[in-house]
Amino acid sequence: MSVEDEEICQAVYEKIGEVEDVLDVGCGDGYLVNCLSSELDKEVLGCDISDESFDEAHSKCEEFGTCGNIECIRGDAHDISDIFAENSFDVITLIYSLHHLEEPVKVLKQIKEVLKEKEKVVIGDFWFTERKEKGGCYRFTPEEIKAMVKKAGFKYLGQDRIDKEFTILVGEK
Ligand SMILES: C[S@@+](CC[C@H](N)C(=O)[O-])C[C@H]1O[C@@H](n2cnc3c(N)ncnc32)[C@H](O)[C@@H]1O
Repeated sequence: MSVEDEEICQAVYEKIGEVEDVLDVGCGDGYLVNCLSSELDKEVLGCDISDESFDEAHSKCEEFGTCGNIECIRGDAHDISDIFAENSFDVITLIYSLHHLEEPVKVLKQIKEVLKEKEKVVIGDFWFTERKEKGGCYRFTPEEIKAMVKKAGFKYLGQDRIDKEFTILVGEK
């Protein structure tokens, strides 16, 4: 059985606690943006290279009561430090997005720039015991994700496994 969106949202929320400025990179249909905005009662921003699902993302606000508090903007994660100013966010999340990136470490380095000091990147992705290539992108092992986060200059704060197939990792700037 796959991990439900709600379960991922709760796991992220438990990791981040009460924070102000949150960006979800590769926000897709905006579930996490809306769910975190509802949990935090704060504005949450998403960005994605494709705006295909933004109508769905924005219309979900009715269900979550987050209209006016969420926004998804178009942007390539590889340009994130051009899109946002340094020290802009308390938390940046990437859920099932890291394995889509052509240069994940480059993106993580840029994420570090736009995070405030001592603040967090939260990465959720598939749990695989060996690297797989699927649909033109890699599925990393938890150890590989950890190594990339460290290579980008983050302090590794830990990694949990949720269900059989999902891992959530936290790095600190
Ligand atoms: C598997 S979906 C995950 C969507 C959402 N985070 C979720 O958990 O349902 C991966 C998302 O990453 C986005 N993406 C892929 N490459 C990207 C890039 N370079 N910059 C920003 N978003 C990207 C895709 O458009 C897609 O919406």
